[in-house]
Amino acid sequence: MKEIIHALAKQHHEYVINLRRYFHSYPELSFQEYNTQQKIMNELSASGLSPIPLAGTGVMADIHGCQPGKTVAIRADIDALPLQDELDKPFVSKCPTVCHACGHDGHTAALLGIAKILNTIKDDLCGTVRLLFQPAEEKIPGGALTMIEQGSLNDVDVIIGAHLWQPLPIGSVGIVSGAMMAAGDRFEITVTGHGGHGSMPHQTIDPLLTAANLVVGLNQIVSRNVDPLESAVLSIGAFHAGNAFNIIPGSAVLQGTVRTFSQVTRTAIFDQIEKITAGICSAAGATYTLTKELGYPPLINDPHVAAVLSTTARQYLGDQAALPIKPVTVSEDFAYYLEKIPGAFIFIGAGNQAQGIIYPHHHERFDIDELSLRYAMEILALAAVKLSVPS
Ligand code: NI
Repeated sequence: MKEIIHALAKQHHEYVINLRRYFHSYPELSFQEYNTQQKIMNELSASGLSPIPLAGTGVMADIHGCQPGKTVAIRADIDALPLQDELDKPFVSKCPTVCHACGHDGHTAALLGIAKILNTIKDDLCGTVRLLFQPAEEKIPGGALTMIEQGSLNDVDVIIGAHLWQPLPIGSVGIVSGAMMAAGDRFEITVTGHGGHGSMPHQTIDPLLTAANLVVGLNQIVSRNVDPLESAVLSIGAFHAGNAFNIIPGSAVLQGTVRTFSQVTRTAIFDQIEKITAGICSAAGATYTLTKELGYPPLINDPHVAAVLSTTARQYLGDQAALPIKPVTVSEDFAYYLEKIPGAFIFIGAGNQAQGIIYPHHHERFDIDELSLRYAMEILALAAVKLSVPS
């Protein structure tokens, strides 16, 4: 099966490259992927499948194998970013300030290639492979939740997905067993005091000083309240207060982000933010409002499924290809699927220094080595075949 999928991936590589370049030329923002959706529907229909629209601008299609087995979902995200494309290639974005600068054009194209591969081998395929083209990964609340609400995981036993990953060189993959990507949350604290003359601070309640104490206090949460063997980040990136040298302002605003790799740590940090804010403001006589905006949860891979993906990647790319990577502090709404059913997410190397493919994700000159599209097809298709075999 490995060789059959390899041959089919080679056969469809050019088709997938052309699709990737098409999607790159016509990127669409989160929740607005109308043309992308139509193109996906057309391609799947032309490949002999019966796609249905889902979650607004998403698509779902099942490939039924002729042998009994499990149902395996493969997910690709399809949206682009609000950024001017500066790629010096003929397929540069034709849409001003919209750009596939994260590689989701490649995810979409590769999954359309996988559709062709698995549909060709369905006589030998066990169970069902469900293709999920998900809108809006880039914009909270993300498209995954709606995909799940509308039944994309009904009867699905396991789910896999991949991100083409520029920091990893072409021909390598990165995967972590367990927590791989962080929850990405933000908070805002408004401290309200009592303003007045800078020369008479005793007549005021100084929200600026109170907020400064909060910056110090909140920065101690990770060092004092988080298990030293766990990872977490709390960063305050904005502090706004006052606009004159001799006026104590009436209020101050802090904004920050929290990144965690487990729900326990995530909850503990936010509990502590509340306690410290209440305590410091109370001591100063100030009042406060704290708002939390929870982003995507931590992405936690199932060890068994992660092992299947890792083994499959090594079958195609060699034993040295699976790089031991650390978890990353960016977040990804694939995490929502993994809260519901077992599955795993893998990074597929797409960087290539020699070809000048050196710009990071979300950079205006971001690009991928298109050989990664073939590897993505091979790894995900063969892993799906393996995972669909009844146990
Ligand atoms: Ni992305």
